[in-house]
Amino acid sequence: MTKLPNKLAHKLAERKEKNALRSLPSSHKTIDFSSNDYLGFAKNETIYANTFQLLLNKGVSENGATGSRLLSGNHPLYSELEEEVAEFSASESALVFNSGYDANIGFFSAVPQRGDVVFFDAFIHASIRDGIKMGNAKSYKFKHNDLNDLKLGVDRIRNTDENDEHAEIYIVTESVFSMDGDSPDLKALSKYCKKEGIYLVVDEAHAIGVFGKNVGGLIQELGLEKQLFARIITFGKALGCHGAAILGSNDLKEYLVNFARSFIYTTGLPPHAVATIIAASKFLNSEEAEEQKKLLKENISFFNKKLQSLKIDKHFISSTSAIHSCVVPENNAVKLISEKLFQEGFNVKAILSPTVPEGEERLRFCLHSFNTTEEIGWMLQLLKTYL
Ligand SMILES: Cc1ncc(COP(=O)(O)O)c(C=O)c1O
Repeated sequence: MTKLPNKLAHKLAERKEKNALRSLPSSHKTIDFSSNDYLGFAKNETIYANTFQLLLNKGVSENGATGSRLLSGNHPLYSELEEEVAEFSASESALVFNSGYDANIGFFSAVPQRGDVVFFDAFIHASIRDGIKMGNAKSYKFKHNDLNDLKLGVDRIRNTDENDEHAEIYIVTESVFSMDGDSPDLKALSKYCKKEGIYLVVDEAHAIGVFGKNVGGLIQELGLEKQLFARIITFGKALGCHGAAILGSNDLKEYLVNFARSFIYTTGLPPHAVATIIAASKFLNSEEAEEQKKLLKENISFFNKKLQSLKIDKHFISSTSAIHSCVVPENNAVKLISEKLFQEGFNVKAILSPTVPEGEERLRFCLHSFNTTEEIGWMLQLLKTYL
């Protein structure tokens, strides 16, 4: 095999030195406090059976999409899914992408134009950063969940000599942050954007299924559907399958179909993957799903109470979502605790620098409807001794 170029080998060696080398985990039987399968949908037998039935009813027997959605890959199941998702989320339209990563790079590389400005939260997901980098707009980071810092940035840009009166401003944030599980003040943010004529975009990847009805997310729970320019929802987390959608106006959908390169230049999802998303989102309306959502909420509240009773809440970032982060500075230290928990049968991921800034390394606990209070209690008890 041809040797790896020296520069690349050097980068890997550097990662090893910092104890920050990533590697693929092997499968193991541990208690899940790390996956995004918040409601247990990935293993739900009803969704599996309903998907199969849907494919049988529609006489779908293809294995693959056969091409890009703009060529041969736009299976009729796509329009069924997009109509349902738009209706369930009270949006004018929905456009399905192969993944959340694809949706974000497609949107941010295509929508903000040269001369426009994008303000993004300091903790925004890598897919949004990558999309912005691929586009031609200027971009500025604002302090995490800090509306005042954002306003200062916008004022600064608007008051510079170079300010182009035709420049559009976009603001992007997440309704539930993937690392910390916290949320911005979405009501205040959307009010500000409306007043200032700014386009607001919210990534709801970790809110869907946890907040709101069906795929409505936190934006729907707060009644802000009409205030936003676009929402990104993903199906690979609480819905337990794969893919994503951008919600917005019909015009936005038409624009993305024409200009989002990650939509245009890739093979569509296989029909059975689209059918799985349809089955999972229909299932979200069922009593069984409501029960799972209730169990998840109970676990979140139990987790938070336990942090307080064990007096370890000061190590945690306050959160009412399924994601809870315990800051343990230093890669070695956070890895050690994660390994100790693993030996006790708990799968809790250590988030290392450079994924998060140095000194802000953390243990990321993902809660699920299927975790028991005994599991949560025992794990937090152990955590206290390790901290
Ligand atoms: C906030 C956020 N947006 C987008 C994505 C990407 O979604 P997908 O896994 O569907 O590519 C993720 C995944 O981790 C995420 O956390």
